[in-house]
Amino acid sequence: MLLPVADVLGATQLAEARRLLDQAEWVDGRVTAGHQSARAKRNRQLSEDSEAARRLGDLIVGALQQNALFVSAALPLRVFPPLFNRYEGGESFGTHVDNAVRQVPGTPHRLRTDVSATLFLSQPDEYEGGELVVEDTYGVHSVKLPAGHLVLYPASSLHHVRPVTRGVRLAAFFWVQSMVRDDGERTLLFDLDHAIQELGREQPDHPSAVQLIGVYHNLLRRWAEL
Ligand code: NI
Repeated sequence: MLLPVADVLGATQLAEARRLLDQAEWVDGRVTAGHQSARAKRNRQLSEDSEAARRLGDLIVGALQQNALFVSAALPLRVFPPLFNRYEGGESFGTHVDNAVRQVPGTPHRLRTDVSATLFLSQPDEYEGGELVVEDTYGVHSVKLPAGHLVLYPASSLHHVRPVTRGVRLAAFFWVQSMVRDDGERTLLFDLDHAIQELGREQPDHPSAVQLIGVYHNLLRRWAEL
């Protein structure tokens, strides 16, 4: 499932993010790339242990925990501390698949990347190109969202970032280990949750509502790994 999540960051948080990023020091983006993707990656990144990356990462993870759509779609078990990238002057990231397992920096923990996320931090009119292009079984999807919006997609997808030919594209990217590893099962739960919410709004006293909620939780119990 490829899903846009609107307004993860509000205007004040976005302004704070941009202020921190404007003062930050950028390094070659290949520091966090795997073997294959290092050859395709041309951009810059905030150093993972920088103060700006930590503060911004906390801001984003905090906002995600409050975001009902993100939680319903990703069913997060662990969220990788967000990384930040910057593309300009024709920089791009060729077609690749994200590494399946990542070491969480500064901890003994590893995270299985089930869901990939990109949070746009520049407005679409600030740069030309820079679309995130994701391939799945339904075709090729080109994504360029307003600043503060996020896109979620299966980490198993081939994807690339088109060259940024004007301006600067700033974004956060990270991965989620989901309680439900399989994208198909996660999508079924998301659709069911959505239908239950709708039913709750339209027919709050409908006797089937409680039964459907029971089905949701019993499927989650069957599929969740903690
Ligand atoms: Ni990637």
